[in-house]
Amino acid sequence: MSHAAIIGVGSYLPERRLTNADLACMVDTSDEWILSRTGIAERRIVAEGEATSDMAAEAGARALADAGVDPGKVDLLIVATSTPDMPMPSAAALAQAKMGLSCPAMDVNAACTGFIYALQLGASAIESGRCRKVLVIGADTLSSIIDFTDRSTCVLFGDGAGAVLLRASKEPGVLGVHLGADGTGVEMLKIPAGGSAAPCTPERLAAHEQFVVMNGTEIFKFAVRRIPQVTRQALRESHLTVEDIDWLVPHQANQRIIDTIAERLGIPHDHVVSTIRDTGNTSAASIPLAIDALYTGGRLRPGQTLALVGFGAGVTWGAAIVRWTKKEDV
Ligand code: ACO
Repeated sequence: MSHAAIIGVGSYLPERRLTNADLACMVDTSDEWILSRTGIAERRIVAEGEATSDMAAEAGARALADAGVDPGKVDLLIVATSTPDMPMPSAAALAQAKMGLSCPAMDVNAACTGFIYALQLGASAIESGRCRKVLVIGADTLSSIIDFTDRSTCVLFGDGAGAVLLRASKEPGVLGVHLGADGTGVEMLKIPAGGSAAPCTPERLAAHEQFVVMNGTEIFKFAVRRIPQVTRQALRESHLTVEDIDWLVPHQANQRIIDTIAERLGIPHDHVVSTIRDTGNTSAASIPLAIDALYTGGRLRPGQTLALVGFGAGVTWGAAIVRWTKKEDV
């Protein structure tokens, strides 16, 4: 059986910055509240006319360039997103055309856990022998589903995309992956309108039902309970322990969640990747964006072990243990 290994990394953030001071002019909040409760200082917001597939295509093209792989050689494109450009076609189909790929393309929606779900699918396609190169992208335009009059959510989220190229390899790269979902948790985080259960009507739009509603406290409790469990499970399946983790790469939702997860796992602060200060929560993009920050920062060494851990609406959760096999430094 082939293994799947990461051979290219890329990311994209829109140029426009939305600072805490900007938000304080829009809703009743402050830089002090946002920074101390979430660790977020600013986030990026798409330009007029820029959509999820544009960011995905940019991040994907950068991952291909990083790996030195021609777009024609990609066998499968998977885009993790819960904010596609439109309900149909998928963001992946649109990004495929923008990148000049000719392979099958599909979206995966597992909210903020989407990248880990997509990584599992991509790795499985390689391990089964059906594909040799799979481009896995996490991309989200959270600004399109956020109510910028609701201070309890609008301070948390941002836009962005991150990508990895997986290739068949003799050396194991993606080791154990453990995923979970519990649909009874729907009320913790959802968008009430705009789907088949409640199509958008003038009344629902007037009630702002097309935007995210969230029980932040419940999500917080769920994340800090579930993520240490699933991380240990994925480590066991990889025949490793917490002591083997060189880098914990958590979903970037709240610095206090990140700190609590690291503390519960017993992972020291300097082995935990945090990019939340500059990006906010970019949903499915947050883990690949954090991998790219680690990679371009020159902090990754061949042989190191990463634990990618995430949680999100559904509720969903997951952990992927990855051995870094890419030899070249940036
Ligand atoms: N500015 C100022 N005050 C605020 C703001 C704000 N932006 N938002 C809430 N408050 C107020 C509240 O009204 C409340 O006031 P009160 O005490 O007078 O009632 C007070 O601050 C405390 O509110 P809490 O909700 O208790 O604040 P908490 O410390 O729990 O932080 C937060 C809230 C940041 C949302 C936290 O619960 C959290 O991060 N939860 C996880 C959210 C998350 O991860 N979501 C994404 C999941 S991933 C996905 O799938 C997209």
